[in-house]
Amino acid sequence: MYINFWYIAAQSGDVKFASDRPLKVMMLGHHFALWRDSKGKVQCISDTCTHRGGSMADGRVRGDCVECPYHGWTFNGAGACVRLPSLGPDGKIPDRTRIDAYPVEEKYGLVWVFLGDLPEAERPPIIDIPEYGDPQWRTIILSADWNIDYKRSIENTIDPAHNEFTHPTHGFLGVRDDYHVKDFKVEDTQWGSGFRNKMFAPTLAQRDMNEVSGRTGGAWIDGGVGHHGPHCTWVQIHASEKMKLHNYLLHTPIHETLDRWYLIAARNNLLDSRYDSTFADRSAFIAGQDQYVLDPVRPKITPRNNTHEFLVPADKAIARYREYCREWEQRGWRIDVQKFRADYERVAYAIPSPARREHKGWVLPAVPVLAPGAAESTAQQA
Ligand code: FES
Ligand SMILES: [Fe+2]
Repeated sequence: MYINFWYIAAQSGDVKFASDRPLKVMMLGHHFALWRDSKGKVQCISDTCTHRGGSMADGRVRGDCVECPYHGWTFNGAGACVRLPSLGPDGKIPDRTRIDAYPVEEKYGLVWVFLGDLPEAERPPIIDIPEYGDPQWRTIILSADWNIDYKRSIENTIDPAHNEFTHPTHGFLGVRDDYHVKDFKVEDTQWGSGFRNKMFAPTLAQRDMNEVSGRTGGAWIDGGVGHHGPHCTWVQIHASEKMKLHNYLLHTPIHETLDRWYLIAARNNLLDSRYDSTFADRSAFIAGQDQYVLDPVRPKITPRNNTHEFLVPADKAIARYREYCREWEQRGWRIDVQKFRADYERVAYAIPSPARREHKGWVLPAVPVLAPGAAESTAQQA
């Protein structure tokens, strides 16, 4: 798991306006409290109160702030303690009571939280989804929690060789003697990489979709896939000019072996909302095929190097993804999950927020990260 990227905390509708209860969300193994302030802006702070560890998300929203349920310390969306009742109305609140607060953006109907301490100019951007809100396209959203390391799912999405076997919906289970994965070229994008290739696929089973595609049998389909950061992927399937599907599979690791994914599925045809369920059903059905192979994969956590898996040319996008992950680790962005877990009952860590660059002396220690150049023997890190 990596700090310093934007993660989806919730769908926008889950963070209610004028609710007196914050929403408690776990991301990267840490809890957070989210709420809407009086202007409707979503705020997000670390869940662990800097007094004696109460859960802020179990408290109340008071105006633009959240009040801890234990002794009433009250924090604003910038993380400052603005009320410390036991000191009385004239008490001076020490600056060190500050709690971590995180940048929040609402985009694509989702609440994104920047979990890290990078200043604004250095932050990797939220993935671009140009189809969202474009009248030429219709988008739907699906979400589920899977008991897997999210990186296994990223690697599955950018794996061109699995379609033939994992997905009878768009492969042939290997019955063709001439089946092989055509060579493809992985190209870097700003915060990731991707490739385009062609895939021979059977006719679409859904009658409405099949009619629009104009295809009567199997056909070569243009495809493109890639990742953005360690946790987001894009997929473009052009079954024909009239039938384009652009999917964005966006992951939030709740913790190292629980993946909450959000799928934004965009289509350039059958735009009427009455077709939404056709597309949602197909996406859910295909996701189930992926879950069938991903759930039992061993080891559960994606290896940190490739020594104990035998990668072949069809895996080269996966190899490039793993290189990126190592680069982000070298920047000191990878959580040291083994230490985090070992300390769990004794230490409440916080994901460092941008204010840690300006203020010193935080009550909660920052989550441990793998030191750049850390020994490869710590092979199992999420
Ligand atoms: S633990 Fe939160 S106010 Fe005491
Ligand atoms: Fe798949």
